[in-house]
Order: sequence, then structure tokens, then C-alpha cells
Amino acid sequence: MSEHKVYKLDTVEVSDAWKKRAYIDNDKYLALYKESVEAPDTFWGREGQRLDWIKPYTRVKNSTFAYPDVSIKWFEDGTLNVSANCIDRHLAKRADQTAIIWEPDDPETPAQHITYRELHDNVCRLANVLKAQGVKRGDRVTIYLPMIPAAAYAMLACARIGAIHSIVFGGFSPDSLAGRVEDCKSAVIITSDEGRRGGRSVPLKANADAAAEKSGHVEKILVVRHTGGDIPWTEGRDIWLDEAMAEASPDCPPEEMNAEDPLFILYTSGSTGAPKGVVHCTGGYLVYASMTHQYVFDYHDDDVYWCTADVGWVTGHSYIVYGPLANGATTLMFEGVPNFPDPSRFWEVVDKHNVTIFYTAPTAIRALMGAGEDYVTKTSRKSLRLLGSVGEPINPEAWEWYYHVVGESRCPIVDTWWQTETGGVLITPLPGATKLKPGSATRPFFGVQPALVDSDGNMIEGPGQGNLVILDSWPGMMRTVYGDHKRFVDTYFSAYKGMYFTGDGCRRDEDDYYWITGRVDDVINVSGHRMGTAEVESALVAHPKVSEAAAVGFPHDIKGQGIYCYVTLMAGEHEMDGLKKELRDWVRNEIGPIAAPDHIQFAPGLPKTRSGKIMRRILRKIAEDEYGNLGDTSTLADPSVVSHLIENRQNRR
Ligand code: PRX
Repeated sequence: MSEHKVYKLDTVEVSDAWKKRAYIDNDKYLALYKESVEAPDTFWGREGQRLDWIKPYTRVKNSTFAYPDVSIKWFEDGTLNVSANCIDRHLAKRADQTAIIWEPDDPETPAQHITYRELHDNVCRLANVLKAQGVKRGDRVTIYLPMIPAAAYAMLACARIGAIHSIVFGGFSPDSLAGRVEDCKSAVIITSDEGRRGGRSVPLKANADAAAEKSGHVEKILVVRHTGGDIPWTEGRDIWLDEAMAEASPDCPPEEMNAEDPLFILYTSGSTGAPKGVVHCTGGYLVYASMTHQYVFDYHDDDVYWCTADVGWVTGHSYIVYGPLANGATTLMFEGVPNFPDPSRFWEVVDKHNVTIFYTAPTAIRALMGAGEDYVTKTSRKSLRLLGSVGEPINPEAWEWYYHVVGESRCPIVDTWWQTETGGVLITPLPGATKLKPGSATRPFFGVQPALVDSDGNMIEGPGQGNLVILDSWPGMMRTVYGDHKRFVDTYFSAYKGMYFTGDGCRRDEDDYYWITGRVDDVINVSGHRMGTAEVESALVAHPKVSEAAAVGFPHDIKGQGIYCYVTLMAGEHEMDGLKKELRDWVRNEIGPIAAPDHIQFAPGLPKTRSGKIMRRILRKIAEDEYGNLGDTSTLADPSVVSHLIENRQNRR
């Protein structure tokens, strides 16, 4: 990437045009931020009014981070329905406005424009199909779909009847799907015959079948007819969704839900154990998703908004479906990938649909940057006025390329830091208020109180670097881990008592700007996707030839971080290159392609302390090629293990 021009911008000032147009300028930001932390009940009591409530709330914030009695409630005596807020209430004004633009994987396939009226019709029918299959309020429904409008219908249909959806990313394996179905005891899976990405088919229905076989819970599989590909069929269990929806009534009254009733579960990786079912609830989540979508992207009625994420991740939940639709927006859903049929695709889609707000991940920017400027400059992009970034730290070089080449130095970039757990954006510029610094997520959103602590939990004041914590609750945050509140409390509130620990490291500069430096726990961020090292390791040791494994992250030009695995074989097994491929494919099959190791190094032994704990810090350094700086090695049980690993690593190059 070094052939790219390096611009070295220090800061980008807010333009007058933006100051004029935007909802929030700097003075307003400062005043509202102050109110949001000093008088949260007043601030959020007012913001809550952006939704339609069936029974208005009288209580706004009721939360404590005190360990171990963590409890988070917002708008707790109010009732509402998320689907009614995302659809029905817009019908009077927007019935014929496009709610969803669907852009298919293959550019030759016609795009679809789904109006709010059509959205209402489809969601009601699908909700009635779910009801007819016995799905009731509080039941869990697993959604395993590609990026097609039916994914949004399914989410909103669940919300309409008070069922809790759990979306599993279509790139996950049958085993991963089964684990998630099992954890939340979901009797229904909604899938499609196949998915299509980059011209290739993904066998979703076949995967769902395999998952259903593994997990005893699945009673019904509802199948969207999408590619028309041949699929296995189990009579009595499998149902074609188009046929069932055609017969269902287009009228389905929304269920009255309490603000604190769960809306969805989304599984995410942590530093230990199996993925956690992050639970988000109805009222606070939607207030927060709606508000952040409006202000962070400065969404106005004439905008066409495109977030390139997949609905299988939290970004797709909050910023393709719930936030935009709560705001009556036009949201674009893209089935494909950035480089198919070629690396101009994103910008061609921008031109085709006159996209004004574009939100993507640094990994995509870096990949497209590698393909060269011509793919960008041959397109117009004149409709664009704001760019967004999410999922991982954006390196200043990619930031500047995004800013100058894609945005032609006229579109601010909002670098939004947040997490599955946070429900919505926590640290971000606001385009009319915040001067930008390439690589910094800048300042906290309203109601968010970030702080830095050292490893002993001492608060770091002023400029400095430490672990990023949040001091008090905001409406969009997760409420619990599904079925395991203790795990919630232990994971997020026990490291630094009384504070929410994000798992991220962070620097704060002299302007009080925040610079996220990446995870400080055993989570690897691969192309903006979270992967627990423990998950990769347990997949590897499940292979009959593997006795022990350790996975660590290492810097990767495109993906941000790659996965580096050290593998000790069973006695009698031999190290050979064919086996590396076999192990890579094994992990891919066990978890999904995003977990496939980039490098495998055979290791006769792993560096351990005398008490048997693997010293990952050393493994990380070796994977990063930083042998000179291994840190304290005095607790190593057998120092020769390390020299052996370094020798092997160097011989590999
Ligand atoms: O390390 C941070 C990184 O992604 C993690 C959260 O991952 P996930 O729950 O999958 O959600 C991703 C989309 C919200 C964080 O702990 N991360 C996310 N956004 C940024 C980021 N790191 C730096 N800058 C960001 N803008």
C-alpha cells in the first residue's frame, strides 16, 4: 500500500455548509452532552418521545453498575411495539416512500424498492405465519438468511408478535448455528434455499438441516425461495415461506411489549468459552438506535442511506434495520461483496441509487484501496455527502484514502466506535459539530461517559492511555447474557468494579479525543468480525491429530488482524504442509470461513508458566515478528520452547 499518496492531515475542520445543515453544531453538542450526563432523566425523558408509546413511561433511568448487583432498566413502565414504530406509524405520511432498496449480488438482477406499505404487508403476513406455527410472545426464532429483504421482514415480524429473534450470520457453519439454536432453545429457523455472494452459492438450507439434526429443538424450518437452487426437503417440518405468506392475512395487530422485554439475542465472541447471547430490549434500544442513526449520520428525509454490513452482525441490526426504519428512512440492503464483479461495485451502487450516506468497514476500504484508484474515480459519487467507518480501528492511511479519493475531500468521515453489547454508537464525531482527526473516533455520544483506567483500575486523568471503560448506563446497552446473568456481570463488570469494561484499549489526547487501539483481551478482530481465541483453539483441539493449540492475532494489511495458530500434534503425528491445509479447512467447517487461520505453526511445545498457563503475550510477539521484545520471560517453565518457536518462525519466511 506504500505507493499511495500520504496526505498526513492533522485535522479536518467542520465546513460552514455542514454547520448550517446539520442537526447538531459544536455548541449544541457541548450543551446537550452536559445535560445528558448531568440530568439523564430530563435528557432521555425527552428523547424517548421520538417513539410512539402505547403506554407512556413515567420512569426514565433506573440502573446500577454496582458489582455484583448490576441492573439496567430504561423507560421501564412504558409499553410499545418496535415493528409499529418502524412501520405503522410512518404509513400516514410515507406509505409510498421506499423503505428498503435491495441491491442483489448480481448487478444484472433488477434491484427492488420496497415501500413502507409493502413492508407492512410482508411483515404482517410473516408474523401471521409465525403465529400459525405456534410462535408466541417470548419464544426465540433463529434467522439464518442472506442479505435479502426477507431478513428485515423476519426481524420485524418477530418484533411484531413479541418473539425474540436470534440472527446467525450466514457465513457460520452448521455447528455454530446448532450451538446458537441450542443455547436459546429456538424451535423455528427461518432460512432460504441458498444465499448468493460474489457469484457463489451458499447452501443455507442444507446447513440449517445439518444444524437441526444436531440440535433437538428445531420443529419448523421456514424457507425463503431465493435462488431456486435444489435443496433437501423434510415434509412436515419444512415450509415454503412464500406460499405460507400468500395465504396469511396481511393484518396482524402489534403486540404490546414492555420497554424492558427482550427484542433480540445476538451471539458474540468473548475471551473465554462459547459465544454469549447478548440480549437487547425493546424501548431503550430503539430510542438509542433511532437517535444515533439520526445524529451520527445526520439523516434527513431526502437522504438515501447505505450501511454495507450484514444483518448477521449488530451493525446490520441497528443501522440497516431498526435505527433507519424507526426514523422513516430509505435504507439500502446489499446482498453482495465489495469486489464483485469488480472493485467498482460499491461506487456503482452509490451512483445507481444516489446514495448520500455510506457506512462501511476499514477492511473493505483497505481492500479497495489495494485495487487502485481507477475503480473509484471512474464512477461519479456526486450524491455522497457523508462517509462512515465501523468495526475496527481505521489506520490514518486508509482514512485519508477514503476521505480524499472516495469522498473527494468533501464528505466528513464518522469513525464510529461501538460493540454488539452497546447496541449503538458510543464514540463518534457528529458531522456538523466535530473536527475530525484521521484515526480517532473522537468524542462520546450523548449520555456516554467513557474513562480510561490502568490495569489496577486507577482512573487515568487527562491525556493518556489505558483500558476503556464506561461509567454509567445508556439506553441502548445490553441487559444481560441470555440465560446467564452472572456471566454478564462477571464478563463486563468484575474487572473494574462499578464500571462497564469494553475489552478495548484506548488513548485520549490533549483535546479529549479518544483513539481506540484495539482489543486488550483474547478477542481477535478479523475484518471487523470478532473471534474468540478460545473458540478457534477448541475447534483445533477437536481434530484427532491435535493435542494442543493456541491462537493469537497478528497485524494483517487488509483484515486488520489475522489469526495465527500454534499447534502441537499428538505423539506420532508428523508435521507436514498438507496437514496445515487440513487443519485450516477443519476450523472453517467447525466455525465458519471467518475463523480460518491465516498461519499455522507446528509447535512441539507451547510457552507456559510453571503453573501450566500458556503465555500468550510471548506467542503474540513471535507472530508479530517482534522477537527482541518478548517482555518478562522469567516465569517460563521451559525457556527453550521459545527459542525453538522463534527458530521455526524465522525458517518459515
Ligand atoms: O475492538 C472494537 C472494535 O470492534 C469491537 C466490537 O466488535 P463487535 O461487537 O463485533 O461490533 C462491531 C460493530 C459495532 C470493539 O470492541 N471496533 C468497533 N468499531 C470500532 C472498533 N475499533 C476501533 N474503531 C472503531 N470505530
